[in-house]
Amino acid sequence: MSRLESFRRRLTAQIDGLNWAIAQTTDVNGDFLEMGLGNGRTYDHLRSYSDRRIWVVDRVLQCHPDCVPPSADFLQGEADAMLEKLADQGGRIALTHYDFGTGNNDLDAAEAVRMSPLIARVMVADGLVLSSQKLVGFEQISGPDSISPDRYMFYRMPG
Ligand SMILES: C[S@@+](CC[C@H](N)C(=O)[O-])C[C@H]1O[C@@H](n2cnc3c(N)ncnc32)[C@H](O)[C@@H]1O
Repeated sequence: MSRLESFRRRLTAQIDGLNWAIAQTTDVNGDFLEMGLGNGRTYDHLRSYSDRRIWVVDRVLQCHPDCVPPSADFLQGEADAMLEKLADQGGRIALTHYDFGTGNNDLDAAEAVRMSPLIARVMVADGLVLSSQKLVGFEQISGPDSISPDRYMFYRMPG
């Protein structure tokens, strides 16, 4: 698979996965959480198709100018500290999109494992997490048929 095809696969997984997860969480009360603002593409997709408050975690603000989150919702800093801050202020998250990654598979996998309990702390029961990396401590569920299970992972927070 070429890098271009791999990129297309990633974008398709994100669009289909986010649409599916938004629909699945209609009856789950809580805010949304975007982990990894980056260019702001997936954040923009979430806000385009949902009215929920979207908390955004990133260590830098380097997104497209049209995709800057409200300052009250942007948790700028290292994710560990930002997730603790969100939990301490009573954050209740119905849907998390985890999109941290550097391209170094070992480092990215280790970071996702380390982040898992911090994410779990802010999730409500039956909330969903979709993730570009493998997480631990959640129930893995099947996502939409269009997405290869090794490309994007879907998890439910146990009740
Ligand atoms: C792959 S990009 C996200 C792309 C974005 N979802 C989009 O659609 O444009 C990953 C982002 O996560 C951020 N990031 C990675 N690890 C982080 C950490 N431990 N704490 C805070 N931000 C982190 C990086 O700064 C980067 O902007």
